[in-house]
Amino acid sequence: MSKRKPLAKNPPPHLGGYTVRVARVADAAVIARFNRELALETESRKLSPQRVLRGVKALLADAAKGTYFVAESGGEIIGQLLITYEWSDWRNGNFWWIQSVYVASAWRGRGVFKALHAHIERLARKRKDVCGVRLYVDAHNLRAKDVYARFGLKATHYELWETDFVLPTDNGV
Ligand SMILES: CC(C)(COP(=O)(O)OP(=O)(O)OC[C@H]1O[C@@H](n2cnc3c(N)ncnc32)[C@H](O)[C@@H]1OP(=O)(O)O)[C@@H](O)C(=O)NCCC(=O)NCCS
Repeated sequence: MSKRKPLAKNPPPHLGGYTVRVARVADAAVIARFNRELALETESRKLSPQRVLRGVKALLADAAKGTYFVAESGGEIIGQLLITYEWSDWRNGNFWWIQSVYVASAWRGRGVFKALHAHIERLARKRKDVCGVRLYVDAHNLRAKDVYARFGLKATHYELWETDFVLPTDNGV
């Protein structure tokens, strides 16, 4: 278990009519479902429900791994994003990586991601230990790329390379 200080929890801000807050353990099932829907929609990947749920719960139990934020309307979770950390020795600071971005389909185009993004950007800019925000996006996900560009994120000259020990790279399970 980490000693990393949890990210600002209270009070939840109301942005564009939505409440954005740090996720709780009780949100694990919804977050895991959103992650499965995200993988299927954007990469045609069928994730194992049990594995994803364990992965979400592990993160919720350990602040060093990252922090999920959820957007709510009327008490219902309608969107999410995850922040994880990458230390940059060049900058002497942490990049916040935005991951697991998902808005329930019925709520898209209504400013839910905008509210989530505004919230975490405000938190990040207030902290002296954060040097920027990064994310990766599937090359074919034009909608998400459009949205990110709208919020001032810029494509980099880096490519993402990996050796994945768990999920094969050929879009398998
Ligand atoms: C991408 C996604 C997160 C956007 O969330 P959203 O809540 O619909 O986005 P918002 O309504 O907050 O829109 C944010 C901005 O992008 C614009 N936008 C929204 N959808 C757009 C689209 N299809 N094309 C271009 N711009 C779009 C909005 O007009 C808004 O700009 P504005 O503030 O200037 O008006 C959502 O479509 C989604 O969950 N997609 C499936 C999962 C996914 O692709 N996740 C990203 C993985 S990297």
